[in-house]
Amino acid sequence: MSHPLDPVHAMRPGLLQLSSLPPLSLYVHLPWCIQKCPYCDFNSHEWRGPGEASTVQQAYVDALLTDLQASLPLIWGRTVHTVFLGGGTPSLFAPEQIDRLIGGIRALLRLAPDAEITLEANPGTFEKDRFRAFHQAGITRLSIGVQSFHDAHLKALGRVHDRAQALAAVAEAAQVFETFNLDLMYALPGQTLAQLGEDVATALSFAPPHLSIYHLTIEPNTVFAKHPPALPEDDEAYAMMDLITERTALAGLGRYEVSAYAKPGHACAHNLNYWQFGDYLGIGAGAHSKLSFAHRIVRQVRYREPQLYMQHACAGEPVSQHHEIAHEDLPFEFMLNALRLKEGFALSDFTERTGLALTRIQQGLQQAEAQGLLARDWSRAWPTERGFDFLSDLQALFLPPSA
Ligand SMILES: C[S@@+](CC[C@H](N)C(=O)[O-])C[C@H]1O[C@@H](n2cnc3c(N)ncnc32)[C@H](O)[C@@H]1O
Ligand code: SF4
Repeated sequence: MSHPLDPVHAMRPGLLQLSSLPPLSLYVHLPWCIQKCPYCDFNSHEWRGPGEASTVQQAYVDALLTDLQASLPLIWGRTVHTVFLGGGTPSLFAPEQIDRLIGGIRALLRLAPDAEITLEANPGTFEKDRFRAFHQAGITRLSIGVQSFHDAHLKALGRVHDRAQALAAVAEAAQVFETFNLDLMYALPGQTLAQLGEDVATALSFAPPHLSIYHLTIEPNTVFAKHPPALPEDDEAYAMMDLITERTALAGLGRYEVSAYAKPGHACAHNLNYWQFGDYLGIGAGAHSKLSFAHRIVRQVRYREPQLYMQHACAGEPVSQHHEIAHEDLPFEFMLNALRLKEGFALSDFTERTGLALTRIQQGLQQAEAQGLLARDWSRAWPTERGFDFLSDLQALFLPPSA
């Protein structure tokens, strides 16, 4: 098998024909947390104590930069428009290490002058004092994982922070950053509609430019999957969604994606690029990449376990899985993301980003329209309100015939 980072192999002839390459983003995964939350299935691992932390951080940033250097031939000459430092809990990293990481990224890549550089932060990880230092290191946008402002719900979610720490972290972010995001979750164990209303009101009192509100899902292989908590009934969860849509709209935040609300000009450019089937190079433990070439689109996954990743990255072999997306899977992969967006997608983007003719989704578009799940004009297609409510039904209309 050829090497996954070999550009010659990636650029060999093939049946697909892309007329141009989409915008490129960089994702960097920082995989450690103070403790693992019982609902979380992300690639996150508990620190084994502060002693370990500083040496590991140094080694991990070295591994990331070695990984990036080795991956450069796959993205040669392309400008990177957004960078996202996600986790895990990136705010556990010392600002000096984040500074070194961003400095290294800037030295290796051509970043757009107005590149959005986001860092995910958790309240309760001493990072309140660090926000200014992160800003100075070049972070332009902070995303704070609040989840709830109720102590009882934070406890039920196994979070390390409390309400007071959440309030302090958001207040500090609002002072330091021109743009920031709050993550909340709803339909939490024991949560009432009134309590969710309080969480939304508290979040909105900080006038956040961006809010992400996720329905708590029970993921396989988590503590919650093994010991399921009592959750609000479906009717109650729908009422919660209605409340969220109403209150955010009144505060001037538009719902531009299923779970994302933003003031004009504050949508997350990094996530928008994912949803619009843009390209991303993902470095770090377990990070995913999607990269386009003239005749193929490939996906890669890096080694998931942090120590294993560091060993392989330093040996120039960070990729554990690599495959070319089959042509018959491209329509669904494109639609799965594009239909999450309120504005849907430009029909020309389908052809440009997948290299396929529009006829490949024509039948699905017609069915979706007939079912009232989708609307379109001569240049765009977008989910209707009903389409948003029954998103998985809408997406399923574009599954490959064999699925
Ligand atoms: C993986 S976390 C990383 C950020 C940070 N470590 C934190 O927890 O705040 C990103 C976001 O995903 C959301 N999330 C994680 N697990 C979830 C689940 N099972 N259901 C819904 N949302 C979830 C949370 O809102 C969280 O802020
Ligand atoms: S802090 Fe975030 S990434 Fe870490 S375990 Fe909890 S939800 Fe997952």
